[in-house]
Amino acid sequence: MSVEARPIRFYLNDRLTEVSGVAPTTSVLSFLRQDQRLCGTKEGCAEGDCGACTVVIAEIAGSELQTKAVNACIQFLPTLDGKALYTVEALRQSSGDLHPVQDAMVKCHGSQCGFCTPGFVMSLWALYIDTDGAKTDENRVREAITGNLCRCTGYRPIIKAGRQMFDLPRVVFEREGLKSKLAKINATSGLEYTSRDQRFFAPRSLQELVQLRSDYPDATILAGGTDVGLWVNKQLRELNEIVYTGSVTELRVTEKSAFGISIGAAVSLTDAYAALKSVYPQMNEMWERFASMPIRNAGTLGGNIANGSPIGDSMPALIALGATAKLASIRGTRGLPLESLYLGYQKKDMAPDEILVSVTIPLPTPELKFRNYKLSKRFDSDISAVCAAFAVKLDGNIVTSCRIAMGGMAATPKRALNAERVLIGRSWDESNLRLGMAALSQDFAPLSDMRATADYRLTAARNLLYRFYLETKPVEPLRSTDVSVFA
Ligand SMILES: Cc1cc2nc3c(=O)[nH]c(=O)nc-3n(C[C@H](O)[C@H](O)[C@H](O)COP(=O)(O)OP(=O)(O)OC[C@H]3O[C@@H](n4cnc5c(N)ncnc54)[C@H](O)[C@@H]3O)c2cc1C
Ligand code: FES
Ligand code: FES
Repeated sequence: MSVEARPIRFYLNDRLTEVSGVAPTTSVLSFLRQDQRLCGTKEGCAEGDCGACTVVIAEIAGSELQTKAVNACIQFLPTLDGKALYTVEALRQSSGDLHPVQDAMVKCHGSQCGFCTPGFVMSLWALYIDTDGAKTDENRVREAITGNLCRCTGYRPIIKAGRQMFDLPRVVFEREGLKSKLAKINATSGLEYTSRDQRFFAPRSLQELVQLRSDYPDATILAGGTDVGLWVNKQLRELNEIVYTGSVTELRVTEKSAFGISIGAAVSLTDAYAALKSVYPQMNEMWERFASMPIRNAGTLGGNIANGSPIGDSMPALIALGATAKLASIRGTRGLPLESLYLGYQKKDMAPDEILVSVTIPLPTPELKFRNYKLSKRFDSDISAVCAAFAVKLDGNIVTSCRIAMGGMAATPKRALNAERVLIGRSWDESNLRLGMAALSQDFAPLSDMRATADYRLTAARNLLYRFYLETKPVEPLRSTDVSVFA
């Protein structure tokens, strides 16, 4: 096996840094503030919600250098191995001048108490280096700061700064030099990092990953850490053995073929949704409302699927579209329809030695009508009360295939088999639709909790089906009486 026992090795603000002797579950934020005394990065919520801890990570993905803003509070330190980390302390120029992002924040009065400011600056810096300082539209500025909360300044001056930073003298981010430095520290094998009785493995290949999974069946599999990070921060769980999937080449691949789009389990939500949206633009709203930019940059589609939360946002759409999951172990690989992965609350059809490798989503066909809806108490950055996806195929006006999947309605993401049965073979019209809506109560007996009551959930599920119908029903030809109304 080619994982190598060694310290964690990464660039911290362009300085090669080796770390040993700290627990593998130490957060990047604690390391920065407590070990390095880099206290510009702040702690607000410690659960990925507020953005005060935003930092930027650079890594090699394929042949590209990828830079992305993430939340330092829920990233474990060893996940930085082979990468470069930038904090707000890195932004001031060697001349002593502020970076255009900081300068614009000052000029636009983008800060009051200042607690949130380094986080906003790093989110805007991630955008600045992504566009190489070239002006971009306001929507991208707004999107870049979706993970940052400010309780005193308000967002208008910050958005103004995000626009104005592109008008100031440009500062270049040296990508090529960084790429070759990262290539050098990645030339060695994967990481085995031990501190006291805790071990962290970062294998580089699928074969190494399944071997480790078999050798350490009790180990926690870690991808983006946006769920697992909270187990440590909020539930104070001790994780003695961790196997990280983020460096496994085969799990980081997205491929399009005649069978569909195959997305590796360690592909970030950002990249996964970009691939999905390119063929299913109907997923755009879901993408924009899935957590925040830094969470989508760190979190993976595989993590969402493998966690299998009944209120996870990806599964309804993927199940409705007929996605299949691929699992692997040292015994081989197997595929199964995604819905069959979920056996009960937190119970999956995944053996202790198996891992999720990828999910494959069929490509759309002309006769497919598809929509994906999310209902939550707050429009942005909130967990779903109900998440629903509908995929219907019509031959003329007859429903030839119907797949309905919902989250928030049962102990697992689940298909509405009764409603599907009622709709298949009938014409796509309002009276049949009403039968389908009624059948949903045979499919789901949802719970009441702090997000929604059972009544609300069932009513909302029925109404989402109705909304889907209204958005996809055949357009009625204009009658002469309609024409006279508009004349
Ligand atoms: C602030 C915040 C907002 C959020 N908002 C949303 C939201 O709007 N919608 C939503 O659905 N979720 C949301 N989440 C939850 C989370 O971001 C997602 O579930 C995410 O997709 C998890 O991916 P990850 O890579 O971070 O998983 P991790 O935390 O690394 O792992 C999650 C689980 O999957 C397992 N796992 C990971 N990879 C594999 C694999 N290859 N094989 C087997 N098991 C594996 C892990 O062992 C763990 O049990 C939010 C989280 C936070 C902190
Ligand atoms: S401290 Fe709030 S997101 Fe990290
Ligand atoms: S300036 Fe005070 S929280 Fe934003």
